[in-house]
Amino acid sequence: MTSSLILAIETSCDETGIALVADGRRILSNVVASQVAMHAASGGIVPEVAARAHLRWVVPVLDEAWSSSGATWGDVTAVAVTEGPGLAGSLLVGINFAKTLAWVHGKPLVPVNHLEGHLYAAWLADDGREIPEPAFPLVALIVSGGHTFLVEMRDHLRYRLLGETVDDAAGEAFDKVGRLLGLPYPGGPAIMQAASESVRHDVTFPRAWMGDSYDFSFSGLKTAARRAIGAETGAIDRVGPRGHGRVEAAAAADTAPLSSDRVAELAYGFQESVVDVLVAKTLRAARQVGAKSMVLGGGVAANRVLRERLAVGAAAAGIALVVPRPALCTDNGAMIGAAAARRFEAGTRAGLDLDAKPSLPLARR
Ligand code: KG4
Ligand code: ZN
Repeated sequence: MTSSLILAIETSCDETGIALVADGRRILSNVVASQVAMHAASGGIVPEVAARAHLRWVVPVLDEAWSSSGATWGDVTAVAVTEGPGLAGSLLVGINFAKTLAWVHGKPLVPVNHLEGHLYAAWLADDGREIPEPAFPLVALIVSGGHTFLVEMRDHLRYRLLGETVDDAAGEAFDKVGRLLGLPYPGGPAIMQAASESVRHDVTFPRAWMGDSYDFSFSGLKTAARRAIGAETGAIDRVGPRGHGRVEAAAAADTAPLSSDRVAELAYGFQESVVDVLVAKTLRAARQVGAKSMVLGGGVAANRVLRERLAVGAAAAGIALVVPRPALCTDNGAMIGAAAARRFEAGTRAGLDLDAKPSLPLARR
């Protein structure tokens, strides 16, 4: 690959991330201002609040990215920014910031798909470690708060969609069930922590196998979890015809009925169900396409049990597994820089009319 230094900006959701990435692989700096604590107060992301927080933090995050990188504008090849998918208002903050920087400093502007960023995080070799690049053909599982899908890659930037969720994303399921269990936002890390404290391992929830397909479904699991929690807290009695919101409200407002031991057991059962399906389908897809490697990405890829379980399966199947460290799985600028280097090399450029694309897909069937 041609050598490059990319200044990459990510503001698609609730993290303001800016990074300087050399050659799509080496991180010079990667600064993330997280809004998690702020959104925890409201139990979820309020889009308008998220956009304003990006506006507040984008300049300080850029300053910090420069000072920890040792680079200057003269070294920069291009400015890259997430164009979608994501929250429109949040995306626009990053896009307008990137446009201004590119225009003022006379640099090309490279638009990046957020999901491609999650995938290319697997190419980042940081901490001075020389990890091998994922080998083609590969199968990638991307699991985030808004997306869950499996793709096959036979070359850079070329995707064949194998399967995707037909309803909730895996991260969304973690967040919703976390709320039902009375755990703090975001649910993913909270459920992982609670599950690790479970002594008993006998709670089981259904798995949606979806026949032979590589599609996923998590809404049935979410309903099963809601019923189980409702039955134990008594909230189920208050469920009306359209009443699931009331159970959620009851569970959120009054978590006392569930002991912390019981929360841990239910969290364990839920996490097992999600991980089981994700791992089984990824391994089956990898075997079927004759993959040389597997890539795991997206916020849910920060989950320890998912990482370990897939690693065991990969080793047994003799297929290499590349999983970025947890901080590179959740939203950050470096992953956008990694994807942007490939996009830059392929000639992808945006003009100053670049707009946010809230529903931008990575691949279609
Ligand atoms: O990729 P990401 O940072 O943002 C989106 O693009 O959506 O993913 C955020 C999602 C949230 O749903 C969060 O609960 C989940 O990733 N997540 C986890 C863990 N850490 C974050 N899910 C399970 N286990 C974790 N350790
Ligand atoms: Zn993401």
